[in-house]
Amino acid sequence: MKKNYVFIETYGCQMNTADTEVILGILKNQGYEVAETAEQADVVLLNTCSIRENAEQRIYGRLGNLKTLKNAKPNLVLGILGCMAERLRADLVEDKKVVDLVVGPDEYRRLPEYIDTAFSGAKGIGVRLSKTETYDDIIPYREDGLQAWISVMRGCDKFCSFCVVPFTRGRERSRSLSSIIDEIKLLSDRGFREITLLGQNVNSYQDANYNFADLTRASALVDPMMRIRFSTSHPQDLSRELLETIAEYDNICKYIHLPFQSGSNRILELMNRTYTIEKYLSILDEARSIMPNVSFSTDIISGFPTETWEDHLATINVLQKVQFDGAYMFKYSAREGTKAFKMPDDVPEDVKGKRLQEIIDIQHQISYERNQELVGKTEIILVEGRSKKSAEFFSGRTDSNKMVIFPKNENAAEGDYASVIINRASAATLFGDFVQTVTKRNVTSAALGLVKK
Ligand code: SAH
Ligand code: SF4
Ligand code: F3S
Repeated sequence: MKKNYVFIETYGCQMNTADTEVILGILKNQGYEVAETAEQADVVLLNTCSIRENAEQRIYGRLGNLKTLKNAKPNLVLGILGCMAERLRADLVEDKKVVDLVVGPDEYRRLPEYIDTAFSGAKGIGVRLSKTETYDDIIPYREDGLQAWISVMRGCDKFCSFCVVPFTRGRERSRSLSSIIDEIKLLSDRGFREITLLGQNVNSYQDANYNFADLTRASALVDPMMRIRFSTSHPQDLSRELLETIAEYDNICKYIHLPFQSGSNRILELMNRTYTIEKYLSILDEARSIMPNVSFSTDIISGFPTETWEDHLATINVLQKVQFDGAYMFKYSAREGTKAFKMPDDVPEDVKGKRLQEIIDIQHQISYERNQELVGKTEIILVEGRSKKSAEFFSGRTDSNKMVIFPKNENAAEGDYASVIINRASAATLFGDFVQTVTKRNVTSAALGLVKK
């Protein structure tokens, strides 16, 4: 029987990256093969993102290109998956005649049926959200590699007023701890060296009596040579127990991505973020008192409805106070269906742009200065392979997720941990020289006496 080839293009956050692997797991079970390019495929699926207007515009642009492909190959099945599928539903099929199927994040088990329907010439739409679906039993399809992303929970119950995610991903639900740990064991046996536990708000993970601290601890214990990362944390649910767990285990990266969005309490309230900036800063202080070397990154939205110059200055003030290692910075984009959509989007586009640029420039300078402080210091990195720009150099990342480039050395290979002395730094990259490979990481720093109890 002729095999069908599928090609998936993934947009948006790491949850979508992880979902694409689940989808490929489901389709491979049904006999599909993975195509290298859209041109070689019988089924092309776009796993889409709705977070901001421009994310959706990109997909529409891509649909334009794929229309040409479909004209040349009329039997091609073209599908929209992910958050745009959930948000726009039947409208997508009606507006974009080129689309054959629209399947949302909780209906991927039925994707083979929808594809069959499309092969027979009918359109299919599956956008029901589920309170329970976690794809717990599906083994995601992953190429061999060093890093893997595992979704540990789905959905979000926070309803920040600007955000579409609760509408596109539905209610919060967690996978079972045992299935996650089994997956990590499989990845460790395959030689993976780093996993990121994913969720829109991992800190509210709950499986019976196990919370997120229990999950990170259990993950860390699988393999001391495997690094554990996690993303994203909402300030409201970041517990002291979790901070202590991160401190205790050497292979849990001392790096926390903790979006604050705005430095103004008035705006935070309008955003329904459920914390004040004072509370946010006190969490960072607490984390630093437990782990003096912990690094932070954050997300910021510029130009939320009614944002004044003073509100904007309050955000800058937080940047300067905290000295984040990095930040993802966005212009506010009104999303239909959210609470903020009903507020006037009253910060003019050029003002939004100027404020955003100012925030970017300030953070860039801070990242640069933070990196200069590392010059002369030794960092442990996971060697990921040759650097993008030159085969003469290797690249890897520090625990704090900073890219390090160093000249190739015969004693270092892909997948090794290496200590590297930093001799130069830009805002985005550290440059250094290989010192030695690190063949043993202690599971707990406590064993080394690094954590004072
Ligand atoms: N669950 C994560 C965030 C997921 S979305 C968390 O709460 O931390 C990633 C980031 O996109 C958000 O932190 C926010 O900064 C940004 N974002 C979300 N909706 C947005 C919108 N409507 N306009 C601009 N930025 C937005
Ligand atoms: Fe969106 Fe807020 Fe949920 Fe993050 S916590 S996904 S920003 S609603
Ligand atoms: Fe985008 Fe959906 Fe992720 S809206 S950011 S792909 S959860």
